[in-house]
Amino acid sequence: MTPKEQHSKHLSSLSSGGLHSVLFPGHLRLIPGISDVYELELAFFESRLLTDDEIVRRGAYFAHVGERPTYHAQICSGEALRLPSFSSARLRSFFESKQFKTSYATHGLFPYRGKFHPQMVKALINVMGLKPGETILDPMMGSGTVLIEASLMGIRSVGTDISPFCQFMAQTKLAALRMPLDPIRIALRDCKSVFSYFQENIGTSKPGSKIRPRHSNPFFHEPASDYIHRPGMAAGLPAACVSKPTRDFLVLAYLDSAGYSARTTRNTPYDHFRGILQRYLFAAEKIQKVLGSVDLELAPATPLEGDARCLPVQDSSIDGVLFSPPYSFAIDYLKNDSFHLEALGANLEALKEKMIGLRGGMPRQRFEFYKSDMGTVLSECARVLRPGGYCTIVVGTNDNQIGRMLGLPPSKVPGIDELLLDMSPLYGFHTILKLNRQITGMANTMRTEHIIILKLE
Ligand SMILES: C[S@@+](CC[C@H](N)C(=O)[O-])C[C@H]1O[C@@H](n2cnc3c(N)ncnc32)[C@H](O)[C@@H]1O
Repeated sequence: MTPKEQHSKHLSSLSSGGLHSVLFPGHLRLIPGISDVYELELAFFESRLLTDDEIVRRGAYFAHVGERPTYHAQICSGEALRLPSFSSARLRSFFESKQFKTSYATHGLFPYRGKFHPQMVKALINVMGLKPGETILDPMMGSGTVLIEASLMGIRSVGTDISPFCQFMAQTKLAALRMPLDPIRIALRDCKSVFSYFQENIGTSKPGSKIRPRHSNPFFHEPASDYIHRPGMAAGLPAACVSKPTRDFLVLAYLDSAGYSARTTRNTPYDHFRGILQRYLFAAEKIQKVLGSVDLELAPATPLEGDARCLPVQDSSIDGVLFSPPYSFAIDYLKNDSFHLEALGANLEALKEKMIGLRGGMPRQRFEFYKSDMGTVLSECARVLRPGGYCTIVVGTNDNQIGRMLGLPPSKVPGIDELLLDMSPLYGFHTILKLNRQITGMANTMRTEHIIILKLE
């Protein structure tokens, strides 16, 4: 055979099965839209660590196992997200492309900045080997992505976040997986009065407008019978909208819409609220329908307001930890969420003293506090994790921003991933795996996110 013929034979044997046949058995079909190396890596781990039945029930990267569609594919299929009619084509195609990654279940109920990719979380829970009945902890749960994914996988979970708004958001998204939705449909029919009620009772996020915080706001405390149709208030809430999960669901939609209204005047605040409430209802209906058709029992999840440096969790009681540290050098969580936090009655000054990355005065001092706080978080994770358990940290690094803070050229900046890796042995961890995820999108100043899997001795 000539070299040309040899090349041609070699190429056709390689191309007949492609990379897929090298990485995966033939009966596993990947979900559409996989484009990153880290996704293939995680899919590879899932294919080697899970049984076929486990891939069907809780795999993140496969659509079919033989003829059986996976639960993940079923949860994500169909219309991606019901966006309001005034949404741009660009926004629509963005959500369609993220259909299997982010825009499913109740994850999209509030666009919390810096939140996890839910699909990646599912795969990481699988890589850590957690099984139904075991417990995972996210000490900085943000919008509750880990808790929602764990619940959908039959894994128990505990989450903490220092922000009462995060606790509220996580709790509401979890409740939406199973709460009765008729009251929301009723509220939508009477959307105008629900909106006016919130405007009057919570306030708007316009500069200078008065916000009525939770502690002094009868809406959050009084029995329903006292605040419905109260004379002098807007039309009042429909009587069906009074259970706590319903109330929280509506409040989250209102806070979300208030944020949009502050950023754009293209639509009226009422249009925003109605569009967002419709989208929330659609998302909750969609996931509840799938949950009603597959054999899956949601596992209990406990979202708490708490400090990751002093976890309200017993020693060695957790089977796995998964979290992403605050990106406070890039995202000011207090400024971003100030309207929502004030509406929920938080004291922003007191919160700043506890929020990792915001503590301290001068930039250098803030960085030193960040490092020592993250050391304390790692030591708490080691305390609550059972020996042999895994702790996964997903962290983005922005060398330019940290460089500016420290007065260093970006090439001399210690990446947060390196800092965490360096300090982790002090708390009994050793590194098992490190993967990188490239961050795309022009608005994001971080370029790489690191996935670090540590094991407790
Ligand atoms: C990158 S975000 C986590 C996002 C989350 N993974 C998600 O999917 O939504 C980091 C979180 O750390 C929280 N945080 C900051 N300081 C904290 C502390 N001392 N204890 C607990 N959480 C804290 C912030 O409120 C923020 O929600």
